[in-house]
Amino acid sequence: MPGGKFITFEGGDGTGKSTQIALFLEYLQREGIEYIFTREPGGTAISERIRQILLDPACGEMADMTEVLLYAAARAQLARELILPARNDGKLVVCDRWVDSSIVYQGMAKEMMDLLAGQEEAVRVVNGFATVGMEPDVTILLDLDPAEALGRAQGPDGSLDRIESRGEDYHRAVRESYLALAEQEARIRVVDAAGSAEAVHARVLAAVLSATELVS
Ligand code: TYD
Repeated sequence: MPGGKFITFEGGDGTGKSTQIALFLEYLQREGIEYIFTREPGGTAISERIRQILLDPACGEMADMTEVLLYAAARAQLARELILPARNDGKLVVCDRWVDSSIVYQGMAKEMMDLLAGQEEAVRVVNGFATVGMEPDVTILLDLDPAEALGRAQGPDGSLDRIESRGEDYHRAVRESYLALAEQEARIRVVDAAGSAEAVHARVLAAVLSATELVS
């Protein structure tokens, strides 16, 4: 893939991903490194509308394949409209989640819980089509025990969104699946997300800088 770098952040719900991304973007600003930031599901007008359906607790009866395809549809639009053109222009793109989220949440974690056999392979194929196989250069995986993480994810009123409210077993399966994926993919760097935001930020920076040059 010619041109700019593509960095993604992954992790279970409540692992501090949003905080760590904000700190990483502040670092890029301080260093005068230009970047484009986007998030999944979302990042374009069409993808944000798909996001509303995906996270709406009123859509609880959504079929598993519908969920896979909606995530992939949101991602296909984001890839075409924003990420591919930016990379071709030599820009650094930072994205909150990418295909790994679908492989883990819709694929591996469900297989692990015996919910859907063969799902992981289907998710990979659909997403390969959606993204023309575009892979990140480096992926930061924030890793934290789900018991601690879900305490962090709750809103001030104790509320959880449609996926967050799936229960601790599912979130344990998500964590195990991410760690298994990291063993298969050299681009995925596992970062211990326990401790203060500053301490985790230092680990994130070290992991990114050891994996890739930020300016080519
Ligand atoms: P996100 O907005 O990143 O939430 P958080 O800040 O809590 O990490 O993601 C929202 C939810 O969408 C999250 O529970 C993970 C889920 N998700 C999937 O299940 N599959 C996917 O492909 C993506 C991108 C997200």
